[in-house]
Amino acid sequence: MSETRPSAPVRPYLPVHPDRPWLAPLAGFSDLPFRLLCRHFGCSAAFTEMISARGLTHQTRNTLELLKTCPEDSPLVVQIFGSSLSDIKESMSILLDQGFSYFDLNCGCSVKKVVKTGSGAALLKNPEQIVDMALAMAEMAGPGMVGIKTRLGWANERRTYLVLADQLADSGIGWITLHPRTAGQLFSGTACWDALKTLKEATSIPVIASGDLFTAQDALECVRRTGVDNIMFARGALNNPFIFQEYINLKKQCSPSDSRDLHLQDICLKTVEYYRRYCSSGRAVLKMRTIIPRMIRQIHGAKELRKEIIKCNDWNAIIKVMEKMQ
Ligand SMILES: Cc1cc2nc3c(=O)[nH]c(=O)nc-3n(C[C@H](O)[C@H](O)[C@H](O)COP(=O)(O)O)c2cc1C
Repeated sequence: MSETRPSAPVRPYLPVHPDRPWLAPLAGFSDLPFRLLCRHFGCSAAFTEMISARGLTHQTRNTLELLKTCPEDSPLVVQIFGSSLSDIKESMSILLDQGFSYFDLNCGCSVKKVVKTGSGAALLKNPEQIVDMALAMAEMAGPGMVGIKTRLGWANERRTYLVLADQLADSGIGWITLHPRTAGQLFSGTACWDALKTLKEATSIPVIASGDLFTAQDALECVRRTGVDNIMFARGALNNPFIFQEYINLKKQCSPSDSRDLHLQDICLKTVEYYRRYCSSGRAVLKMRTIIPRMIRQIHGAKELRKEIIKCNDWNAIIKVMEKMQ
């Protein structure tokens, strides 16, 4: 009789390569339908919206909603934020039990609501705390399965990311994402891509770039100038989920397929299709009112279309507006 052994859990491959662009965590946006939409257009890995470690330990309805996924939504990185090591550990054990494989620690969110709880970018005030959390997470999930996403430093401090990279060397951390602005900058000024190059040269941990990647050309230029291991699109993907395909085409030196405008109606219709399929209907229609106007904001007549979209209460009305797009 042949011997049967329990099979090892299958761990989806997380590509760390500049040809395989990722979708950044985007609170309020990187939900299941949006992730699947981006994957359809060539995104290789995606992050959940940031999820509260405390919320996870209390299994709040909102938190469970943020964890909705499906087999096509892979590989998926669950991003957590928290201020206490015990919450982080407890939430990791819940997530591991639920079968999630990849995790990211949010050390960059500068929104007041998050920072005042001592989590997100507030962790940068005390890098030791980040190191303790990241090490605990890596120990629980295994080597290569955990990353951190950080800014340059708290307030206007610009070198904390290097302290983190140094202290996390050889720790089993799988990647460091750097959004090279200080916490004090929020989204003002420009992302300091030079810091990405500095980080890449300072550490053997894979470096993922985030910050001012609004177009495929921006991402290509960022990789060229900094040597980072990969990039993630954030606002660039919100404005244009097709950015992944554009970037891949550009990277392969194909002519960037067709022009952006030619695809816009298709992109919007695909967006509608994914939200209809994967989001509970009332909320999904409301989401269209924020998502579609972002995507069409540069076309002729965008203002009028936006006015019509924000009045739509059902899918038929939304599709009718989409059909008016030229
Ligand atoms: C609407 C919005 C939501 C975001 N939510 C998160 C989040 O949940 N976790 C996180 O680490 N970063 C979050 N970010 C930051 C982005 O992931 C990204 O690092 C930042 O926007 C810089 O990239 P970009 O300039 O290419 O947009 C968010 C950004 C935006 C605009």
